[in-house]
Parts: sequence; structure tokens; C-alpha cells
Amino acid sequence: MTAREGQKRECPEGERRWMLVAGASQGIGRATVRLLLKEGYSVVASARGVEPLEELAREYAGGKVGPELGPAHKDRLKILPCDFAQIEKLQDYVSNVADLTGGISGMLYAAGMQKTLPLTQSKFPLAEEIFRVNTFAAFELIRLFAKKGAYRPEGASFVLLSSMAAHEGALGKALYGAAKGALEGFIPAASAELVMKKIRMNGLVLGVVQTGMSMQFIEKMSEDQKKALQAEYPLGLGEPEDAAQFVAYLLSEKARWITGQTFTLDGGHSVRTTYSERM
Ligand SMILES: NC(=O)c1ccc[n+]([C@@H]2O[C@H](COP(=O)([O-])OP(=O)(O)OC[C@H]3O[C@@H](n4cnc5c(N)ncnc54)[C@H](OP(=O)(O)O)[C@@H]3O)[C@@H](O)[C@H]2O)c1
Repeated sequence: MTAREGQKRECPEGERRWMLVAGASQGIGRATVRLLLKEGYSVVASARGVEPLEELAREYAGGKVGPELGPAHKDRLKILPCDFAQIEKLQDYVSNVADLTGGISGMLYAAGMQKTLPLTQSKFPLAEEIFRVNTFAAFELIRLFAKKGAYRPEGASFVLLSSMAAHEGALGKALYGAAKGALEGFIPAASAELVMKKIRMNGLVLGVVQTGMSMQFIEKMSEDQKKALQAEYPLGLGEPEDAAQFVAYLLSEKARWITGQTFTLDGGHSVRTTYSERM
């Protein structure tokens, strides 16, 4: 087998490649944890909500996610609650992860929040809150995990999640769009340094994915508004698994040649027809 063929394998039994999912209790993060476990990785799952993380652990223990718990698998999911907005505590968190895992092979940063408010009411404390969890915590985790001992010596892969709100008019989402745009701006320059350490980093720009976050505003819509939103997505609104599949690919060795890029996953939203002409 050539070295390259060897890298194409799924994570083999017992190899203990640890992936960290930040924002694992719900939505895209949770779907990614499930998929990574099924693919044979070991996973550290973090968020603030202890109960949903424990529920995920119970699902795993019950064999619904990944293989049944057995001697070879019983330690493959670690729950490590953390409030990523407390940036000053992230050094301790990263040390704990490094102790647990011996160094991670990848991280999805899926922790995020958004509040829809008119620009004139979007005061500085809200800007700080939004940037802390969506942006600054991601920068700080990447800085800390790029240090020796925090990631595996053979390399690692980091994935960040941005939003269409950084690219198109989205009423009430100026701060959220700015926080996500900053993540995208971070990727090329930071990747230039990370690649020298054998760390890859990529971003996804997501259209509307049906999770707790998007349901907050979808549920407030009238039936006509919901129809109009659906019409903007020729392939339908996204499911958490649609994003998780691509995240798992970017985290894996199959994406060994890809870094510094930002990919759009939007169910055809960007290429939809906005006016109709008979053909
Ligand atoms: N859904 C979409 O349509 C969409 C579109 C574009 C981009 N995105 C981005 O994709 C990412 C995942 O979104 P989602 O839709 O899956 O959202 P979600 O269902 O609301 O999940 C967000 C996750 O972030 C965690 N989180 C929030 N604040 C945190 C904090 N201070 N510390 C630790 N964890 C925190 C939440 O857990 P706890 O509350 O338990 O802490 C939860 O696990 C976000 O960055 C979001 O901006 C989503």
C-alpha cells in the first residue's frame, strides 16, 4: 500500500484519532458528533448545555450512534462542557482536551449565536456578545490548538462555519454577518501559518440549515414568508447532516490537499432564478 492509499482509509479501529466538536449539544455540531463516531473517530463534545451532551452520550452508549459500547469503544466519546464566550478560560480548556486526547486531529468550531435586531438597536454589548462566541473564541481556540502537544504531530484539520449573512442583505443580522465575515477573513492568512505546522483550516458558508438557531426566526414567519423562504432554496432548506457530511470530509485525511478555502453550501440559493422568463 502506498503512503497515499494509507491516508485514504477511514479511521481504523483503535487508532484513536480525536476530533473536537465545539458547539456539540445541538444542530450541526451534534449531527457532526454522530457522524464522526459512526466513522470510527473518537470525539470530544463540548457546549454549555450539560444535559443535551449527556443525552448524546446516552444515545451513544445505547448503540444508536456508532457501534455498541464495548471494551474497544467505551471511551470514544468524551463530554467536556465549556462556555466558549469565557475566552480567558480557554487555555485551561485546551489543556484539559490535550490531557484527555494526547492531541487532537481536528476541530469543528460550531458554537454560535445570533440575535435579529435593527442596526440602530444593535448596541456595543450585543456586538461584543456576538463576536465573543462566533468569532473571538474561534480565533483563540485555533491559536491554542496550533501549539505543540495540543494537536497530533502528524497534523490536524480545523473547520469554521460562516453564513450567507456575511454575503447578502439579511435584515437585522448586521452584527452576526460581520462576525462571520471576520471568520472568513481570518482563514487565508491564518492558514498560511498553520500549513507550516501541517494543520489545514477551511470554512463553510452555509445557507439556512434547519436547526434551533434558524427555527428561532422561521417559526416567527407567516405562512407566506415561509413559502417565500422555501422558494429561495431550489434544493430545499438544509438539514444538519448536509453540513456535517462536508465537515467530516474536511476533517478527514481524504481532504489532505485542501486548506485555506471557504466553500458555500446553500441548496442552490446563490444560483436560484430571481426572475422568470419563459423558456
Ligand atoms: N442553522 C443555520 O441556518 C446556520 C446558517 C449559517 C451558519 N450557521 C452557523 O453554524 C453554527 C452552528 O449553528 P446551528 O444552526 O447548529 O446552531 P444551534 O443549533 O443553535 O447550535 C449552536 C451550538 O452552539 C453552542 N453554543 C452557543 N453558545 C455557546 C457558548 N457560549 N459556549 C459554548 N457553546 C455554545 C450551543 O450549545 P449550548 O447552548 O448548549 O451552549 C449549540 O450546541 C453556528 O456558528 C451558526 O452561526 C448556522
